[in-house]
Amino acid sequence: MEKPKLLFATGNAHKMIEIREILGTEVYEILSMKEAGLDLDIVEDGDSFEANALIKARAVQRATGHAAMADDSGLEVDYLDGAPGIYSARFLGEDTSYTVKNQYLIDQLAEAKPEERTARFVCAIALVTADGTEYVVRETVEGEIAHRPAGANGFGYDPIFYLPEYQKTTAELSPEEKNALSHRGKALRKMRQIIEENKLLCGDTAVEKEGCL
Ligand code: IMP
Repeated sequence: MEKPKLLFATGNAHKMIEIREILGTEVYEILSMKEAGLDLDIVEDGDSFEANALIKARAVQRATGHAAMADDSGLEVDYLDGAPGIYSARFLGEDTSYTVKNQYLIDQLAEAKPEERTARFVCAIALVTADGTEYVVRETVEGEIAHRPAGANGFGYDPIFYLPEYQKTTAELSPEEKNALSHRGKALRKMRQIIEENKLLCGDTAVEKEGCL
């Protein structure tokens, strides 16, 4: 029996690895937009992580008729009133390197007191099922902006996102350690729970429902 398809609205190969690890692939087939041969130009003009995740998931579900999931994530720095927030990817320009973006943030906090360096990664995940029902979850991981970049794992702002209890940045954690505590890991696990509890990604027949998550 063919597995139901779940499309994940991202072009980021790094995220697809995390998503397959956390959601598992035994019951449904998880495809990226590229793997599904989908080339959509989606305008993310929502005013929150949740709104942007829903915009992406809805667009893919409507274009394909398959269940679609999307995430929207970013870094909120309290000293900068929550910036870069939903603009994290575009911050200082989409093509600006993270070496530059990260140093800029460190410089912006030059005058901050130790207790003013708090920040969080936020991740919203939206699921739109094949019949159009919508679900959204949001999770965070709390940390601080480091005084200098450290670590070579992960991506984006990981080298400056410091976790006091581990005395490491998220770029110094292994992928497994990061998945266990990250905003995206937590949000994906919450979404997996919703999928399982509501039997959302099953076929229509009783037999298929029996065998599904
Ligand atoms: P998105 O792909 O539109 O959700 O944009 C997320 C942006 O937020 C990324 O391009 C990174 O700049 C930042 N970001 C989100 N999650 C992480 C993370 O786990 N580590 C480092 N940066 C992240």
